[in-house]
Amino acid sequence: MSATTRTGQPAVYNDSVVRWFAIASVIYGVVGMLVGVIIAAQLTWPELNLGIEWLTYGRLRPLHTNAVIFAFGGSALFATSYYVVQRTCHTRLFANGLAWFTLIGWNVVIVSAVIALPMGITQSKEYAELPWLVDLLIAVVWVAYAIVFFGTIGIRKVRHIYVANWFFGAYIIAIALLHIFNNIQIPTSLWHSYSAYAGVQDAMVQWWYGHNAVGFFLTAAFLGMMYYFIPKQAERPVYSYRLSIVHFWALIFTYMWAGPHHLHYTALPDWAQSVGMVFSLILLAPSWGGMINGIMTLSGAWHKLRDDPILRFLIVSLSFYGMSTFEGPMMSIKTVNALSHYTDWTVGHVHSGALGWVGLVSMGSLYYLIPRLFGQKKMYSVPAIELHFWIATIGIVLYIAAMWIAGVMQGLMWRSVNPDGSLTYTFVESVKATFPFYVIRLVGGLLYLTGMLVMLWNTVMTARQGRAVDGPVIAVNPAHA
Ligand code: HEM
Ligand code: HEM
Repeated sequence: MSATTRTGQPAVYNDSVVRWFAIASVIYGVVGMLVGVIIAAQLTWPELNLGIEWLTYGRLRPLHTNAVIFAFGGSALFATSYYVVQRTCHTRLFANGLAWFTLIGWNVVIVSAVIALPMGITQSKEYAELPWLVDLLIAVVWVAYAIVFFGTIGIRKVRHIYVANWFFGAYIIAIALLHIFNNIQIPTSLWHSYSAYAGVQDAMVQWWYGHNAVGFFLTAAFLGMMYYFIPKQAERPVYSYRLSIVHFWALIFTYMWAGPHHLHYTALPDWAQSVGMVFSLILLAPSWGGMINGIMTLSGAWHKLRDDPILRFLIVSLSFYGMSTFEGPMMSIKTVNALSHYTDWTVGHVHSGALGWVGLVSMGSLYYLIPRLFGQKKMYSVPAIELHFWIATIGIVLYIAAMWIAGVMQGLMWRSVNPDGSLTYTFVESVKATFPFYVIRLVGGLLYLTGMLVMLWNTVMTARQGRAVDGPVIAVNPAHA
């Protein structure tokens, strides 16, 4: 039964903001991945910067990371969190105008990044490169986001707060905290500033931020997506609701302490490095608990995987999540990190999480969302979703396998010594040996980008076939509230 407004009109959810964020995510995905392919090509053939300073690797690399994480991933998170919180609270978004402000504000942030980073304007903090003025705007947009999200929870028509909202809520609070503390800066001009922290404290604050950006932005928030869209697409309830609560508290408590694993063998006190390592090892348990909960939601419906490509996106994303959260704790062990750090193994780990988990779960959720936002039952072309799934998966496997082999090879070559104590290989020999793996990574990246282009085409065709519609607010039977 649909709810009505005071004038008797059927009440509808605010899906316009959701729709724009969803479309933005697909477009930014194409752009961010294209820049990824360009820098992968530049690592293979450095002269591809064409001698133009704006196209140098050092400037395009942060453009890639910001575009894929904050523009592609961030827009997908805004879209899905706004969609999910309305459906699970049976109410429209709180503060409609503020929701529009987050859409405009976030896009202004992205455009500023596209201008600033190729110009070489940077704070030199990884994943926090943007200058202090843009940081201020991010903080304002984020507070507005928090007001809209928690305000909607505040006016909910059901007593219960569904678990997906707990994950989205934790990500919103944690990112506000991390962003503000990591960006405390002393400005020296409009575009330049110095960090308020010095030396190893600066490094520790940066990697407390960096690791939790992985933990809350690239993990907790996407788990929110998983807890809503897998049960919906599989038409099954979450495997264990109790496990989802344990998963939530264990994950958010443990992530906060693991940051020092990025600073092994540095000036950071040894005990702090060990704390980071131990908490990273513990992190395996909640991560796998969550993965199992997601995959087992398919109990009794495994056959759906055979002919539902959207479900395949969602479930395979969880397999990559499981893989990268097994690999991460292993890499945090100091003796393993002594080999992996500085090598392409780290890049392989990053992209098994980024392409396999973050990418696939976002694509699956967007494929669920987009037809509904345009009043359609399904995407314009289901075979195109199938095609996207296969080329993306093959692309990921090529990318990460190449980086693993290259990484372990580099680590072994660098530490190899002759009986007289001299190095067996010069550094440039390891670079030459890496060349074929960079070519394979480039092919993998091209495949992944091609999949994203197929998705963009499918999205445009779905939008053209349908028309923008906002879903009706479902009234709750008071007996169930
Ligand atoms: C077509 C797809 C992609 C390609 C070809 C690609 C390529 C690359 C390359 C060449 C680098 C630099 C590696 C280095 O410094 O040695 C990189 C870094 C990075 N990429 Fe991607 N990427 C892609 C998609 C993504 C996506 C979807 C995400 C996140 C959702 C992502 C997140 C990152 C991150 C976090 C780094 C920094 C890694 C580190 O510092 O260790 N990438 N990518
Ligand atoms: C239990 C979970 C995880 C643990 C314990 C973990 C641990 C680690 C470790 C030890 C490193 C290497 C640090 C270094 O040598 O510098 C690393 C790097 C990284 N991981 Fe993970 N990881 C986990 C899951 C993930 C997931 C799911 C993603 C992505 C979605 C991810 C993204 C990254 C990124 C972006 C870096 C590179 C940071 C940089 O140097 O720029 N991790 N992780």
